[in-house]
Amino acid sequence: MSTTRPLLYVSRLMPHAVMALIEERFRLVQDPTETSPTPAAFREGFARAEAAICTLTDIVDGDLLSSAAHLKILANFAVGYNNIDLDAARRYQIVVTNTPDVLTDATADLAWALLLAAARRVIEGDTLIRSNRWTGWTPTQLLGSEVSGKTLGIIGMGRIGHAVAQRAEGFHMVIRYYNHRVNPALPEAWARRSLDALLQESDFVTLHVPLNSETRHLIGTRELSLMRPAAILINTSRGAVVDEAALVHALQSGTISGAGLDVYEEEPMVHPVLPSLKQVVLLPHLGSATMQTRVQMGLICLQNIQAVLEGRPAPNRVA
Ligand code: DGY
Repeated sequence: MSTTRPLLYVSRLMPHAVMALIEERFRLVQDPTETSPTPAAFREGFARAEAAICTLTDIVDGDLLSSAAHLKILANFAVGYNNIDLDAARRYQIVVTNTPDVLTDATADLAWALLLAAARRVIEGDTLIRSNRWTGWTPTQLLGSEVSGKTLGIIGMGRIGHAVAQRAEGFHMVIRYYNHRVNPALPEAWARRSLDALLQESDFVTLHVPLNSETRHLIGTRELSLMRPAAILINTSRGAVVDEAALVHALQSGTISGAGLDVYEEEPMVHPVLPSLKQVVLLPHLGSATMQTRVQMGLICLQNIQAVLEGRPAPNRVA
């Protein structure tokens, strides 16, 4: 084993194909596991490594970065990078990269899985059978909401929002979106709306914005009250884009009829009332969780690391 291979810190075990490449090309500061590293292990990793791969639940703040004396690049294994203090990274001249594009389809598919599951009461139906309580077909059993032909409101028309809209065309949906930037390349039939108009017009509202100071609690009590009583909210972006307590209240009081959630304000903690609400579908942050996508995400991290360690620009630099 050559000792010249660069020292890499990886905060969590990656899919096998990614780990195999890592072990071939790097020396590891520590062997990663499926669980979060202890704060001491995390700190040691940053203090010793020349490059690091961390995940969206690893909080990388200025204090941690100030101790990363040898670190040249931090590759975030996610498209979102709200877990990293970018200003501090710039201050300490540490390149930060993300993994865009490769997870667009997987995340858009999962938003659709949540939308369909919430609209058509898929989890309730599955539970009915598994609990041996199904006594047979009836005309009124588990009636859900029609999806085809309804209005889909997309908040954030970036890559993933766009992919969700493309899928919605197959369901002949009316597409409304809210986005700061005007994109003349979008189909004319997809109408840009103010946030309030979109909330008022949509049967389904799906969130695809990054988490930052402008989008934290973008959907709170006021916004939920603008939605239709029959509307369903889907969130595969970041939990804190929604005020979770306000959402629970809106669901309990019938302000909106349902939700499909993949992300939560304080992951892995979920608001204690949410699991008791039948009209909510809950997933454990599975947006990008396909083998193909997770391997691609790992490969992108490695490409960025390799580029920086060889003195080339990182293809997916965010800071
Ligand atoms: C991301 O990349 O930001 C996703 O949330 C990961 O699933």
